[in-house]
Amino acid sequence: MARLAVFASGNGSNFQAIAEAVRRTSHSVRCLICDRAGAFALERARALGIPAHVVSYSGRSREESEGEILDVIEPYAIDLIALAGFMRLLTPRLIDRYPERIINIHPALLPKYPGTRAIAESYDSRDTELGITIHRVDYGMDTGPTIVQESFRRVGNETMEEIERHIHNLEHATYPRIVIQLLDSIDHRSR
Ligand code: GRF
Repeated sequence: MARLAVFASGNGSNFQAIAEAVRRTSHSVRCLICDRAGAFALERARALGIPAHVVSYSGRSREESEGEILDVIEPYAIDLIALAGFMRLLTPRLIDRYPERIINIHPALLPKYPGTRAIAESYDSRDTELGITIHRVDYGMDTGPTIVQESFRRVGNETMEEIERHIHNLEHATYPRIVIQLLDSIDHRSR
């Protein structure tokens, strides 16, 4: 059994997809960390029965907020952290405590379109191949080593909403699968 924490800031659809998939394994999603009190991800956590903690980033440094996150997650003995729409850049304070153990999902084929406007920038591009990236987190913004990319071809006349739906469906199919693979390999190594 390996233990996962998910960090989210908003809707939390990836968090839910992961939680539902992990439930069918011997692993567990131990907690949700959220930086916004009003995030829908918190409602999802309640419905799923997963402990959720709001850690504020306002009025203090990222390092201070991360200090609180570290205190909060410590008792859960977390093996892997999955960022799922967590809109904060992590600092070395947190990253160095979980070396190689923090992953992120990005709704574009990195290194194209890093940052928060990835879907719109992908849509506005002339790219015929769009997709998603799951990568390890390093100190940069969406720069860490790629674990997997999944892509699809666009015809050209899709609306922004259709592209967005396609990307999210791909995320929900891929992220849980990769998370479980990583939890399996962590579990295996610790035996
Ligand atoms: C996803 O598109 C993810 O790739 C990006 O933020 C979005 C989060 O969506 N990092 P949700 O909160 O999981 O619904």
